Amino acid sequence: MELGSILQFLENRSILVTGATGFLAKIFTEKILRVQPNVKKLYLLLRAADSKSAMLRFNTEVMSKDLFRILKEKWGGNLNPLISQKVIVVAGDITCDNLGVKDSYLLEEMSKEIDVVVNLAATTNFDERYDVAIGINTFGAKHVLDFAKNCAKLKVLVHVSTAFVSGEMEGLIKEDPYKLGETLNGTSGLDIDTEKNVVEETLNQLRAENSSEESIKSAMKNLGIQRARKYGWPNTYVFTKAMGEMLLGHLKDNIPLVIIRPTIVTSTYKEPFPGWVEGVRTIDSLALGYGKGKITCFLGDPKTIIDVIPADMVVNAIVVAMVAHANQPNESIYHVGSSVSNPVEFTWLQDYGFQYFTKHPWINKDGKPVIVGKVTVLSTMDSFRRYMAVHYLLPLKGLQIVNAACCQYFQSTYLQMYRKIKFVMRLIELYGPYLFFKGVYDDMNTEKLRRSAKESCEETDVFYFDPKSINWDDYFMNTHIPGVVKYVFK
Ligand SMILES: NC(=O)c1ccc[n+]([C@@H]2O[C@H](COP(=O)([O-])OP(=O)(O)OC[C@H]3O[C@@H](n4cnc5c(N)ncnc54)[C@H](OP(=O)(O)O)[C@@H]3O)[C@@H](O)[C@H]2O)c1
Repeated sequence: MELGSILQFLENRSILVTGATGFLAKIFTEKILRVQPNVKKLYLLLRAADSKSAMLRFNTEVMSKDLFRILKEKWGGNLNPLISQKVIVVAGDITCDNLGVKDSYLLEEMSKEIDVVVNLAATTNFDERYDVAIGINTFGAKHVLDFAKNCAKLKVLVHVSTAFVSGEMEGLIKEDPYKLGETLNGTSGLDIDTEKNVVEETLNQLRAENSSEESIKSAMKNLGIQRARKYGWPNTYVFTKAMGEMLLGHLKDNIPLVIIRPTIVTSTYKEPFPGWVEGVRTIDSLALGYGKGKITCFLGDPKTIIDVIPADMVVNAIVVAMVAHANQPNESIYHVGSSVSNPVEFTWLQDYGFQYFTKHPWINKDGKPVIVGKVTVLSTMDSFRRYMAVHYLLPLKGLQIVNAACCQYFQSTYLQMYRKIKFVMRLIELYGPYLFFKGVYDDMNTEKLRRSAKESCEETDVFYFDPKSINWDDYFMNTHIPGVVKYVFK
């Protein structure tokens, strides 16, 4: 793989980015504009009814973010002209044909101009409705491929997927493509069109029964988990993402296809500045609950490796892979994570949290510091169940009896407690498998890409993505947790 100059590759190129309001898409957009303002056009596709509301979303949900601070400082008053010249905000939706782009002139322009497609649109909710998740993560990916096939100058399609597999898998998880119909537990019969039919038939039946929107939502969520589990995936998100990869691999024809599978993406390591993050993401929900004094016990095997990777490294890997595979009509898979090259143990995260919030306690609504302590670690599912039974389920049962005896006087307290417990149990059902995960994500392909970049790329310092360079103590204590506190704690 000869890379040459990445900046030169980007010069005068047009790139389509889907899911432009998302976390990684924003970091990607900022990076390109900062390091290569001579890009020809950035088509940023986001969900909106029309171009006016798309522009509004772009201004309020993208450009207004602190992430763009450095770019604003660099360009000052010239930033707006740069954006108007280079950025085309596109109202669209990847669940539709032609990506939902209604303006036929724009569609034609895009198919003539676009050199690179980066698909970052997804639903990342582990507990998404099946109809929604399959529409975006599976068939949405196919629509992006169909669109890419219509782009006359297309050099490469980069699809961002996920490294997550089943929590029960062990050892080295390879960077292998999924074959169409392949399952994680060997159960045969996975057929993506059948899955679509199952969704449609269930929806039709629920509507025929006049089910409420609330019960349709709940039935769709349960259907996703049920179908995912049937074939060995732990949740709807990873299942629908895997089916998306299957469709792309199967239908790509001679399109150069790169599949990037990040692990758990954390705040920026270095650029545009350390510690930018948004949204409550997987491990950050633990930091949030712990720092605010709401979590007093953790579940998980202390020796489990939690694979995390800073967001700017993921974006750099996307750019480098895009250049490396331009015009090469094959499929390449990259795990972008740290579990092989620089692993983080689950216990370290607990220590970082304890040290950080002891030194910098969160000040609660009453202006008082939240004092955190060492948490109880439940290292097996059995110990978790026992803990829940003693601390929550028994008191709930007691409250239920008292409530019945007092003519439902405590009904609202009872329901509140019941819902909270149900929520925690659902979270554990979804995330639990990863807290006992015994696998690591092989990143041999990514390592080869790093080596090629080192040998033949002129700007390795601009497009760094080597997790070996990270000192995790320093990153978590001085970058990530402060970033989460600054941008996510409210
Ligand atoms: N962040 C992580 O830890 C992580 C880890 C592994 C893999 N990934 C993958 O990386 C990619 C980007 O993740 P992220 O963290 O940036 O996710 P994110 O912040 O949730 O962004 C996803 C974006 O996709 C958009 N989107 C959803 N459905 C769409 C549709 N039908 N048409 C157009 N846009 C749509 C959403 O737009 P709205 O604003 O309209 O909802 C959202 O802005 C995803 O493919 C994800 O699976 C992320």
